[in-house]
Amino acid sequence: MAEGLALIVNGKIARVAVGGAKTLLSALRDDLRVLSPKRGCNQGVCGSCTVLIDGEPRRACLTLVERCEGVDVRTVEGLANDKFMQALQRAFVVSGGVQCGFCTPGVLASARALLAETPAPDEGEVKAALSGNLCRCTGYRTIVEAVLAAAKEVSL
Ligand code: FES
Ligand code: FES
Repeated sequence: MAEGLALIVNGKIARVAVGGAKTLLSALRDDLRVLSPKRGCNQGVCGSCTVLIDGEPRRACLTLVERCEGVDVRTVEGLANDKFMQALQRAFVVSGGVQCGFCTPGVLASARALLAETPAPDEGEVKAALSGNLCRCTGYRTIVEAVLAAAKEVSL
């Protein structure tokens, strides 16, 4: 019989059943219906499942949920009032960094972690921070431009 586990997701305690090798992505999407982290490759390659764990970007599809008890799990849904996320979302819309949108929550999570740690990144730092997030649509230029624009806005 699976035991329940208390997660802290977007600032609220949520109980999920554990068992087998359940991943954080499965707990978020399938149990809690937190749907911004996307199930792309489900094997650690595409970055579309990226969430913040204690502020660090992590692939939820590779993270066992039982390792997440007591840590702060944040998704885009839980960052609506975050100044970095608000600036990023505005900049992505303006720059055209969002097309189909599938990769976007994961990209935003990685970008938010970058800006929280490095408020004025250069282009190389943005590219490095997003190197684990694949996008089939934008060709990346607009995504990088958006992150640089958001950094500029936050620093004003
Ligand atoms: Fe997790 Fe692709 S779904 S890296
Ligand atoms: Fe479509 Fe990135 S916007 S995969």
